[in-house]
Amino acid sequence: MLQCMKITGGVPLYGEIAISGAKNLTLPALAASLLTDESVTFRNVPNLSDVGSMLDLLCHLGTKIERFDGNILSASTPNITATDAQYDFVRKMRASILVLGPLIARYHRASVSLPGGCAIGARGVNLHISALEQMGASIVIDNGYIKATAPNGLVGVDVHFPFSTVTGTENVLMAATLAKGTTRIINAAMEPEITALADLLILMGANIDGHGSSIITIHGTDSLHGANFKIIPDRIEAGTYAIAAAVTDGNLVLKNCQYDHLSQFFDTLHLAGIDSKIVSKTSDGFDNIEVNRAEVKKKIKSVDVLTAPYPGFPTDLQAQFMTLMTICDGTSSITENIFENRFMHVPELARMGANISIHGKTAIVTGINTLIGAQVMATDLRASVSLVLAGLMAKGETIVNRLYHIDRGYENIDQKLLSCNARIERFAV
Ligand code: EPU
Repeated sequence: MLQCMKITGGVPLYGEIAISGAKNLTLPALAASLLTDESVTFRNVPNLSDVGSMLDLLCHLGTKIERFDGNILSASTPNITATDAQYDFVRKMRASILVLGPLIARYHRASVSLPGGCAIGARGVNLHISALEQMGASIVIDNGYIKATAPNGLVGVDVHFPFSTVTGTENVLMAATLAKGTTRIINAAMEPEITALADLLILMGANIDGHGSSIITIHGTDSLHGANFKIIPDRIEAGTYAIAAAVTDGNLVLKNCQYDHLSQFFDTLHLAGIDSKIVSKTSDGFDNIEVNRAEVKKKIKSVDVLTAPYPGFPTDLQAQFMTLMTICDGTSSITENIFENRFMHVPELARMGANISIHGKTAIVTGINTLIGAQVMATDLRASVSLVLAGLMAKGETIVNRLYHIDRGYENIDQKLLSCNARIERFAV
């Protein structure tokens, strides 16, 4: 049965929301556990359906998963029982491609279904494939599968990415830890999740420099070992709830975040007239951030946004920011530079009264006074949550269909919103 969320809008959100561990670190971090025969323990693992999909894939490959209280789990793969990621895994979750690098590096073979296009664009993996070929893997595409072998293991080389790829950088980074010699990833993606993945690999015994910059150097080693690692906060979840405070004229304290991972985003919110500040620190050094729009009488200012690889404005917050701009004073231009089809929320926001026109990769949003509740549906995670935000601010009742997209990436969204005064209700149809 499909689940929907009914939202009665126009209620300011007040209170605290604890930010969960980052989905887009958990997925590569779990894949990295394949690089060792020892157990890797992860703390702050978000309970998400995408994480469940990655765990199912690892179990198929031979990983034993043990779960503990408090979002802790350990993954150990003393022996591999399969080196294939079948279509069914990859169809559910494109990030399944992240097992390709670790499997070739440790087991010298892999067969991973090619991801097809998806709701936000064609999303090729050609850069993953050509980088691993440069490292000595023989790869053929056969029957929709990437079939890779490297009987003598991988060798370190200079991999130049022509443009930034997050999971491509992660695949090469993981593969290079067990390659012979030195690999340099040039024009590496610099997202905080990549820096954190490198931190995990270093804890596992890898020799890595330059992570967080555009050139990462990896000196290969013979083997890696177990580790105990905490997943960093989900910056996209934090950004999403920051917009929830803004669109409802509320006041939220987002707990356990990293402000510097969202600098560009918070600067943009500031230009729109929304203040955010670190109000305290957690015992392990994370930030508690207050986002306050309560009692602010002025309209939200229009701001132009261009999505870009980190440290630029994240594509994963573009849809949510567009919801904010639907009620701005003036006209905002939002340009999506990463994915060619990431405007699936636009016709749905239009059904709620938003005034948006699309011109190639730019959406022009002319602010109106308020959105009006409607039945809406979107086909990807971030588009769907942008509709929840729209529902939270709209007059009347909104029903967001196909909640399973949201459950891929937002842990306990119902409880988090309910605890801050939101009028929402989940039901099945
Ligand atoms: N691309 C290619 N060939 C490649 C690799 C990428 O043409 O071999 C293109 C893609 O089609 C896209 C662009 O390059 O147009 C950038 O794609 P990238 O590889 O950086 O994206 P990704 O690794 O597939 C990750 C996140 C996405 C996030 C993007 C961009 C994970 C598991 N996924 O995807 O997260 O939007 O980076 O930051 O880390 C989400 O969480 O909602 C989400 C979609």
